[in-house]
Amino acid sequence: MTASCSSDSGTGCLTRRSLLSGAAALGVAGLMPGHSHGTPTDGLGLKDRAARRGLVFGAAVNAHDLRRSAALRAALQRDCAIITPENEMKWGYVEKRRGYPDYRDAQAIANFAAKQGLKLRGHAAMWYSNIPNWVKEAISGEQGHDIMLRRVEAVVSHFRGRVVEWDVVNEAIEPRDGLADGMRRWPEFAKGDPAYIVDCFHAARAADPDAVLVYNDWGFEYNWPVFEQRRKSVLILLEKLVSAGAPIDQFGIQCHCKIGNDFDERVYADFLAEAAALGLKLSLTELDISDIPETGPIETRDQRVADHARMILSVAFDQPAVVKLMTWGLSDMTSWLNAQMPRPDGTLQRALPLDEAMKRKPLWYAIAECLDAAPERPDASPHP
Ligand code: G3I
Repeated sequence: MTASCSSDSGTGCLTRRSLLSGAAALGVAGLMPGHSHGTPTDGLGLKDRAARRGLVFGAAVNAHDLRRSAALRAALQRDCAIITPENEMKWGYVEKRRGYPDYRDAQAIANFAAKQGLKLRGHAAMWYSNIPNWVKEAISGEQGHDIMLRRVEAVVSHFRGRVVEWDVVNEAIEPRDGLADGMRRWPEFAKGDPAYIVDCFHAARAADPDAVLVYNDWGFEYNWPVFEQRRKSVLILLEKLVSAGAPIDQFGIQCHCKIGNDFDERVYADFLAEAAALGLKLSLTELDISDIPETGPIETRDQRVADHARMILSVAFDQPAVVKLMTWGLSDMTSWLNAQMPRPDGTLQRALPLDEAMKRKPLWYAIAECLDAAPERPDASPHP
């Protein structure tokens, strides 16, 4: 392992990784020593490049975009082995009226996946941020714990046999809430007690014994004190879940990133290794790279996004427990970033592998290069 690379380009460390960055800059990507693969102009999609290294590539998609864009549908088929509904399985989206879940939009995405031979990832069985309004009233009279478990059981069993992998619980840590071990002050359900998370995993396992079960969270990439607290908190939580016998298979690392943020290779590699040492596989589940700090031309924005991706993905793919990369959207046509963090110049963020017209951007090629250069996974059979 080398010194840390704390710049976007990741060229501060002479490793295979920085050679990769150098090769990319020279446009000779894909011809790395030891990798006879074609260059990214060989027509292979990201899913193919991932599969031949024993990895999986996919993306989130929403039902609206899926319906309105044939170009997006074609791009998803070309690049993705697995897709995730961006919102359509969330509790607040599905069960606005208690007892009357509406899965139509989720079903549309599931039907597309089935028709195109893509795998389907479920998101999120339980998440503090997307609780239907009626739950808040119901909880005052009833045991919120039971309401929560009924939701997990209902949504996981509804998609049994179609969803291969579930984000069972999403974002249960929040050190800023001041609870022990950095747990989130989970509204009403369990005041930060991890026991409710163990119960959710058991409920999901009972509802679908074949699904891969994931704990999913964000905020682990950067060399900041608050991210260091998040890394510590999530490792404590994961260790508790594993020790309590929760049927957890994977740790989902969302990987919402931003150019210019300070990244330390060793810190991130050590974090991934500690999570892997718990016996969990690791998935990067929601990669996007905000370009908001860059006010220059599109070419500069795109290059910085691509360089930032290389810096992080080359470390991640060196960890054998990392089995999957998902981006949170495939095309810049839609990104949550434009609602949450709009660019001052009013242009769309360019945080995803394809532009609005589904044209491959430098980020696409950076992901392709990192996939091509990834050490082959031991069992090399793509995980769901
Ligand atoms: O469905 C309503 C629609 O009826 C209404 O007209 C419209 C305008 O208010 O809102 C629509 O709901 C929006 C929903 O997305 C569906 O489009 C919500 O307001 C909006 O807050 C919601 O944002 C989503 C956010 O999660 C919260 O659920 C983003 O699209 C989605 O990208 C984002 O994804 C999360 C992951 O689930 C978890 N990890 C972080 C990631 C980014 O925040």
